[in-house]
Amino acid sequence: MPQNAGSGAAEPSRDCPLCPRLHDFIAAWRLKEPEWHNAPVPSFLPPEGRESVRLLIVGLAPGLRGANRTGRPFTGDFAGDLLYRTLKNFGFTRGEFEARPDDSLELVGTAITNAVRCVPPENKPVGAEISTCRRFLVPTIESFPRLEAIVTLGSIAHQSTVRALGHRVAALPFVHGAVHETSGPTLFPSYHCSRYNTNTGRLTEEMFVAVFARVAEHLRR
Ligand code: URA
Repeated sequence: MPQNAGSGAAEPSRDCPLCPRLHDFIAAWRLKEPEWHNAPVPSFLPPEGRESVRLLIVGLAPGLRGANRTGRPFTGDFAGDLLYRTLKNFGFTRGEFEARPDDSLELVGTAITNAVRCVPPENKPVGAEISTCRRFLVPTIESFPRLEAIVTLGSIAHQSTVRALGHRVAALPFVHGAVHETSGPTLFPSYHCSRYNTNTGRLTEEMFVAVFARVAEHLRR
């Protein structure tokens, strides 16, 4: 039974044993870097609480030296620099992002989670880990009563979110920049804001900003 189940806020326990490979990987990093977070990374919520959340961002999984080190999604790695800069420009944050969990950054009407809560070796969760961790994604999504938009970062996060919502992946495919209306929140798939994607030109900052411009327009309506 996940910790917090029943409160609508399902998060894995610190020693979640459900994915043996990820559990072992984290155990090895606890020995190497005892000061790091080295545990499932909880969703990042706004101080106004779950009732205030209209936008959810679903990432892939914690980065080894990013969220796995700091304990806050997208904090301490390249992907977070682009994500938080973009969120700030659209008013989805206040305060300053300084890549540390004790900076003054706060989310505004927005929450950030990951499809897989534990850091995977080489940033690549396997299919069974993605499916297993969906038991936390489903109640996370359900815990936001006013949710209107979900930005999915990359095809793995997108497909797991579509399944978590009870839809077929073929009906709501991962296409960067698409806008998928559903009976619930509208889905905005985007290429992941990873260093790899921006270095190779698959995702430019303009493309990423354009996705959030559509989200902001959707939330204004
Ligand atoms: N950091 C996260 O928390 N999630 C990602 O998907 C990538 C980096």
